[in-house]
Amino acid sequence: MKYTRSIPWLLSLGLAAAQPQPQCLPSTNGTTFNGTAGSELQLNGTTIRKIDAADADQGVAVDADYIYSIDNYSITKHNKTTGAPLLQWHGSPSGPLIHLDGAVLINGTLYAPHSNYPQSPITSSIETWNATTLQHTSSHPFGIYRGSLTWIDQDPASGVWYGAFANYDRVQPGQMVPYGLTMRTQVVRFGAGWDVTGSWVFPEELWQSFSPMSNSGGSFGPDGWLYVTGHDASAAYVMKIPEAGSTLIWVATISLPDIEGQGIAWDRSQGRNGSLYGISREGSQIVEMRVPLQNCSWTVPTTVGAVYEPGEFVGLDG
Ligand SMILES: *[C@@H]1O[C@H](CO)[C@@H](O)[C@H](O)[C@H]1NC(C)=O
Ligand SMILES: *[C@@H]1O[C@H](CO)[C@@H](O)[C@H](O)[C@H]1NC(C)=O
Ligand SMILES: *[C@@H]1O[C@H](CO)[C@@H](O)[C@H](O)[C@H]1NC(C)=O
Ligand SMILES: *[C@@H]1O[C@H](CO)[C@@H](O)[C@H](O)[C@H]1NC(C)=O
Ligand SMILES: *[C@@H]1O[C@H](CO)[C@@H](O)[C@H](O)[C@H]1NC(C)=O
Ligand SMILES: *[C@@H]1O[C@H](CO)[C@@H](O)[C@H](O)[C@H]1NC(C)=O
Ligand SMILES: *[C@@H]1O[C@H](CO)[C@@H](O)[C@H](O)[C@H]1NC(C)=O
Ligand SMILES: *[C@@H]1O[C@H](CO)[C@@H](O)[C@H](O)[C@H]1NC(C)=O
Ligand SMILES: *[C@@H]1O[C@H](CO)[C@@H](O)[C@H](O)[C@H]1NC(C)=O
Repeated sequence: MKYTRSIPWLLSLGLAAAQPQPQCLPSTNGTTFNGTAGSELQLNGTTIRKIDAADADQGVAVDADYIYSIDNYSITKHNKTTGAPLLQWHGSPSGPLIHLDGAVLINGTLYAPHSNYPQSPITSSIETWNATTLQHTSSHPFGIYRGSLTWIDQDPASGVWYGAFANYDRVQPGQMVPYGLTMRTQVVRFGAGWDVTGSWVFPEELWQSFSPMSNSGGSFGPDGWLYVTGHDASAAYVMKIPEAGSTLIWVATISLPDIEGQGIAWDRSQGRNGSLYGISREGSQIVEMRVPLQNCSWTVPTTVGAVYEPGEFVGLDG
């Protein structure tokens, strides 16, 4: 029993080698083992267009008609077709908002993760704006909590909110110790009132690649996968929430040559045809991209062990 249950995983590895399908490798179905497969399954995204946007410094949000570029304390709303800036919210370098890290647009409201990065002690909040008027509408302060809130998103399949509290190996200016340690970065699940009801860490190989910075962006794709980014790398990492334990499963890595980490946002208004949006900080541009995993689905359920009858026991004598 032990070995027959393992065979499907081995078979798919063989299939992956025998008949490579860049769009949908068999190993994306769930043969992610301990999470290291994501470093081996490399797919290429392609850029569709770039849009000049002065506020494309931290992140981007998108809905059916508009794109929003987000900087530390400003947000610009753009016509999605032409990219023309239409409306801007602008705060102040003296606060109270000093470091927005991106945003997501849900049902007419922009939800933005905010922190006091790189100050110490680390504090975070969730801030909202009316997406029509760009009036700031609410704030949920976490105070000193699990790290710097870098992204939040609502899983469209379940309606459940997730986000990430990032921590950093970098020692910030004027500080003596690392800013929380990258290994302590957590993806969290939110319940009512933004209470955290669960949390996960990244596989070591992935958080090591984020170091000395951390997970910066996150967005659920129309395909159900959770896409995350680091701070600098031109890539998105495809993650799955595991059935058990506290470590995310790393499914694949998508190369995205025109972005350098930071905030990302799936255009879920277009169903499976939607594109992934990111930013190029260097170019002050919003980047619209196509990603080749959208039609892959998780056809092999990940199992959490198995139950054995006498005669099948694993590692028990007699
Ligand atoms: C994985 O999915 C692909 C595409 O849907 C399919 O062709 C392949 O047979 C699947 N592999 C396994 C092991 O289920
Ligand atoms: C993770 O899984 C891969 C593939 O089965 C294996 O080669 C590797 O040794 C495993 N690593 C750890 C730390 O268990
Ligand atoms: C991705 O692009 C790289 C560099 O252009 C290329 O070497 C590689 O074969 C591509 N991978 C796939 C899966 O198409
Ligand atoms: C975007 O601009 C185009 C061209 O000016 C216009 O036709 C379209 O209505 C605008 N979209 C929105 C949502 O305003
Ligand atoms: C945004 O804030 C970070 C952290 O304070 C700072 O390093 C960066 O230069 C700021 N970006 C802009 C465009 O002001
Ligand atoms: C969207 O917001 C409106 C009010 O602004 C509310 O009536 C509606 O239930 C909301 N829809 C969802 C899916 O949350
Ligand atoms: C945004 O503001 C407009 C104008 O006041 C209002 O009609 C609309 O309901 C608001 N949207 C949300 C999601 O609150
Ligand atoms: C995706 O695009 C195809 C071809 O243009 C179209 O037939 C289909 O309706 C679109 N699907 C969605 C969900 O928009
Ligand atoms: C997904 O499948 C649809 C329908 O088969 C196809 O039109 C579309 O191009 C595919 N998208 C990707 C990214 O492969």
